[in-house]
Amino acid sequence: FLMNQPKPVRKAVFPVAGLGTRFLPATKSIPKEMLPIVDKPLIQYAVEEALEAGIDTLIFVTSRNKHAISDHFDTAFELQTRLAQDGKTGLLQRINQIVPDEVNLVYVTQPEALGLGHAILCAETIVGDEPFAILLADDMIRNDGPGALAQMVDLYRESGASVIGVEEIPDEMTTSYGVVGVEVNDQGRSAIHTMVEKPVPEDAPSRLGVVGRYVLDPAVFSYLHGVTAGSGGEIQLTDGIAAMLQTHPVLALPFEGERYDCGSRHGFIKATIDYAIDHDDIRDDMLDHMSDLLEQF
Ligand code: G1P
Repeated sequence: FLMNQPKPVRKAVFPVAGLGTRFLPATKSIPKEMLPIVDKPLIQYAVEEALEAGIDTLIFVTSRNKHAISDHFDTAFELQTRLAQDGKTGLLQRINQIVPDEVNLVYVTQPEALGLGHAILCAETIVGDEPFAILLADDMIRNDGPGALAQMVDLYRESGASVIGVEEIPDEMTTSYGVVGVEVNDQGRSAIHTMVEKPVPEDAPSRLGVVGRYVLDPAVFSYLHGVTAGSGGEIQLTDGIAAMLQTHPVLALPFEGERYDCGSRHGFIKATIDYAIDHDDIRDDMLDHMSDLLEQF
């Protein structure tokens, strides 16, 4: 593979058109990406991770009834006026600084829920011929050092190859993830040679599961156009990337950080507890409560 100096990764796609059925009835009227962990919605954590990685254009692929997401990133004139009048400057700052002024926000709609690959295709004309990131907000990644996407963008910059975030998953979980087969390349990096969406354990090429973070070469779009319904009858992003492997290198990065599967109730609650303990003002109260609980069980 011949590599020129890679272009900067400036755009990130956030697919937020899902139905969120695992959190019904909470998600009957609000998108699952708006469910809060302590005091911020899931989508805001993902957006902050993207901004930290140098992203300046946020592309949300939405569906009907997702106004809450664009409202969240919009100015809230009445609320801001009220907070200013009441002298609540700390809170005012927290709601004013969600996204800096120079960041572009773009909303595109996915007219039909045909799968993650299809959602990404809906962003094709906005992304154009540039490398781009994808963040699935229900995978939250907590970190003391650089965020997961920043680590991936660094690897993209060094290698010029697409990068997918991966982590070890247990045997019985292969049917919930994209699973990659890797081999160590000349540069000592993990190059993906196979990628399968939600295989049964016997068909899984490894135990390395795809986490919801991708830095992709725009060539993936032309491959996605050729993808037909796969796992679950949906147009899978995994199948588009698997096809791209013939012509474009893709690396697997087991990033630093702890991932929470906030698409599941237990993952969501674990994240809530761990993030709550990170907040100085409620930490002691939380820990007391948990030690009381543990005494009862
Ligand atoms: C999607 C992807 C899958 C990936 C997962 C990570 O699946 O299709 O390859 O492993 O996200 O969270 P979903 O969880 O949307 O079914």
